[in-house]
Amino acid sequence: MMVNDLIEKALEARKNAHAPYSDFYVGAALLTADGEIFLGANIENGSYGATICAERSAFCSAISSGKRTFSAIAIVGGKKDDDISDFCPPCGICRQFMAEFCSPDFEILLYNGKETKKTTLASLLPDSFNLKS
Ligand code: THU
Repeated sequence: MMVNDLIEKALEARKNAHAPYSDFYVGAALLTADGEIFLGANIENGSYGATICAERSAFCSAISSGKRTFSAIAIVGGKKDDDISDFCPPCGICRQFMAEFCSPDFEILLYNGKETKKTTLASLLPDSFNLKS
């Protein structure tokens, strides 16, 4: 799986976002260790706190299908009718959510419409809390 393919999938997933309150549309594509891809989009709610981010949508989909080992996630986000123009790094809750299932070298791919930035869970969430360690 090429980096560009995973970004493409995240852009596709973003089209399914439900974000009438923020107008901020996010898509994620999660690659499992066995090579499957699960998509996620942010799903907002009129009770704003009930909103789920694109990253956690993708993880919930994959985990609900029995997946437990993950290699990488691509994330894109931006206002609905604008082109992607900035990186959309995962929020703190999503980083912690990833730490439950992913190793420190789990790859996080961000795209700003021009360039892809490759980072890791360890870089974005150092010294993370985990009951297992
Ligand atoms: N959002 C995500 O889906 N992922 C992130 O990493 C940051 C924020 C969503 C939540 C909300 O629907 C909208 O973006 C604005 O915060």
